[in-house]
Amino acid sequence: MALRLGDTAPDFTQNSTAGEIKFHKAIEGGWAVLFSHPKDFTPVCTTELGEVARLKPEFDKRGVKVFGLSVDPLKDHEAWSGDIKETQGTALNFPLIADADRKVATLYDMIHPNANDTLTVRSVFVIDPNKKVRLTITYPAPTGRNFEEILRVIDALQLTDKHKVATPVNWKDGKDVIILPSVQDEGELKKLFPKGYKTLKPYLRVTPQPNR
Ligand code: BEZ
Repeated sequence: MALRLGDTAPDFTQNSTAGEIKFHKAIEGGWAVLFSHPKDFTPVCTTELGEVARLKPEFDKRGVKVFGLSVDPLKDHEAWSGDIKETQGTALNFPLIADADRKVATLYDMIHPNANDTLTVRSVFVIDPNKKVRLTITYPAPTGRNFEEILRVIDALQLTDKHKVATPVNWKDGKDVIILPSVQDEGELKKLFPKGYKTLKPYLRVTPQPNR
C-alpha cells in the first residue's frame, strides 16, 4: 500500500555507495529525504544527482540527511558517479542506495507498473525526526525535479513545527507567514509572535516570519 502523510517511514537495510544503510539508525533524531530515480546512466537522472550534490550544504544546514536510490546494482552506481562528477561538476556526496532486489522500492511503492514495470519513478519522501512521512512527491521519468522546491517545503515544515505557523501560497523564506488557527490564547500569541500580527479575518492572521 502507498505511504501516506503521517505514516512511519519503513525501516530497511540496504547497500549503498556509502556502505550498508540501516535506515532508521542512519536517520535517528534528524530529518531525511529519500528519493528514487529511474535508472543510472540516463540524462535527467545525471542532472538531478549532480544538483542534489551541489545542494548538499543546504540540506546539511537544515539537519537533513539525503539518500538517493534506484534499482541498479552498486557497481553501476559507482561507475556512473564518475560521469556525474565529470558532467555536472559536483561529485556524489551522499549515499546512493543500490536496490537491485527492489526491497526498498517495494516498501516505499516507488515502482508504478502502469508507468514502467521495472524502473522506479521519481519519488521523494521527506521524513521528520519522529520518522514520520511529511511530504511525498511523485514525478514521471522524463521530468527532472526542482530540489530548491524540496528545500522550500522543508523550511516550511520546520517553521510549522517550531513556530506554530503555516506558509501561504508561493511563500519564500523571509516572507510573512500565517498563524495556525489552533493558536488562540492571547498570552501564547504575544509570546510566540512578539513582532505582532494582522488579523485579516479571524481565521487569517499574518505575521512576519518568526525566525527572521
Ligand atoms: C532520464 O533520467 O533521463 C530518464 C530516465 C528514464 C526515462 C526517461 C528519462
